[in-house]
Amino acid sequence: MAKLHLITYGCQMNEYDSERVAGLLQERDYELTDDAAAADVILLNTCAIREKAEEKVFSKLGELKRLKADRPGLVIGVMGCMAQLQTKTVFRRAPQVDLVFGSPAIARVGELVERARREGRPVLETGEAPLVKITSKPPDANRLKAFVTVMEGCEKHCTFCVVPRTRGRERSHPPAAVVAEVESLVAEGCREVTLLGQTVNAYGRDLTPATDLAELFERVNDVDGLARIRFTTSNPYNLTPKLIRAMRDVSKVCEWFHLPLQSGSDRILERMNRGYTRAQYLDLVAALRDAEPAMAFSTDIIVGFPGETEADFEATVEMIERVGYDNVFVFRYSRRPGTPAAEMPDQVPEVVKADRNGRLLQVVQRVTASRSRLLAGRTMEVLVDGTSRKSPGELSGRTRCNRVVNFDGQGRVGIGDIVHVRVTEALPHSLRGALETPEEAVCSSK
Ligand code: 5AD
Repeated sequence: MAKLHLITYGCQMNEYDSERVAGLLQERDYELTDDAAAADVILLNTCAIREKAEEKVFSKLGELKRLKADRPGLVIGVMGCMAQLQTKTVFRRAPQVDLVFGSPAIARVGELVERARREGRPVLETGEAPLVKITSKPPDANRLKAFVTVMEGCEKHCTFCVVPRTRGRERSHPPAAVVAEVESLVAEGCREVTLLGQTVNAYGRDLTPATDLAELFERVNDVDGLARIRFTTSNPYNLTPKLIRAMRDVSKVCEWFHLPLQSGSDRILERMNRGYTRAQYLDLVAALRDAEPAMAFSTDIIVGFPGETEADFEATVEMIERVGYDNVFVFRYSRRPGTPAAEMPDQVPEVVKADRNGRLLQVVQRVTASRSRLLAGRTMEVLVDGTSRKSPGELSGRTRCNRVVNFDGQGRVGIGDIVHVRVTEALPHSLRGALETPEEAVCSSK
């Protein structure tokens, strides 16, 4: 059996894609290995969202070059978003690479790897291709919680973002294909799915007949044995009242919303081409909390977007406080080739970005910790997904609002169970809890 070493960078969709690639290659008699030095084929699934993500790949390729010197038969492949965007640069900076292919070509990974092994010269595949649902996956994949890609691509054209150039136009998988995938995951023990798309709330517009994410929730909700539905990532621009109602009414959809804000300044939002104002964003948050008071929000923020002044930055700080996020991902603006913002004249110096990044993280810590404290004393539903990182004798799980809870399972509960836990202590990054009485503790699903 040939050996495959797979390295994944970037977002959840890349994790999903890597799992598919492993499954497809296993069908061709490849087995996964953790040891790069033992591999016949090494694939890097890459990310292009920020320059740092790309630099990580080049530095890894530098390390792998030594392996190739020892074993000339080794095939090194680069796949995913950076492969799509930087094909020529990859071959120029890393001539040890044998194979480059973008995400549309994943379904053909077996054939592409064989060609690279046989031909002994670089193989390149970065064209457009129709979206296909790949169902093969390795048998040892984590089944309790699973990602399910429901659509790919993005047509929003935010001025900072490369995704429209790496993942292409919006293309959705038909609801029946999504449901079939969820059913097969549940049959293998999955309790929670996260529906994935770059703009997942634009789901279904391209299908005939057209559908939407709210209707998909209903269909997925009907899968017996599934306990929880999450989804990511959304754009405030497409957020309809119908989706808000569905979040309230569809029982398995969790009270957790990742809603990227990017900036709290209207001037910057306009320059980013986000399609909403801070007032509109606040209205959405209010409508969502009105529908579901327990709703937790997380978000993405970019600091140091071209033209961002101290006043713009302060407006972002103020929004973080006002919304009261449960989690915030902060990124320093990174100039991406081919995007409009990369050409904007008033680029912000790196030292200013670093300073704002640091200051914002302090605000985030304070805000998220105070949100966490609100949960103290409450009894929450927890899906047990592992053991506590700090004390392995304890169990760990997540609430529907996506908080980590550690607690003593008292030998009565195990991984995969859904239990009720009373929060005894709210720490900044996790909760501590106590299992409810036996009669109340274990529930099969909500
Ligand atoms: N620079 C910094 N952050 C970026 N993101 C997207 N493009 C860039 C960029 N050029 C961030 C956004 C997005 C998240 C996935 O990555 O905040 O929501």
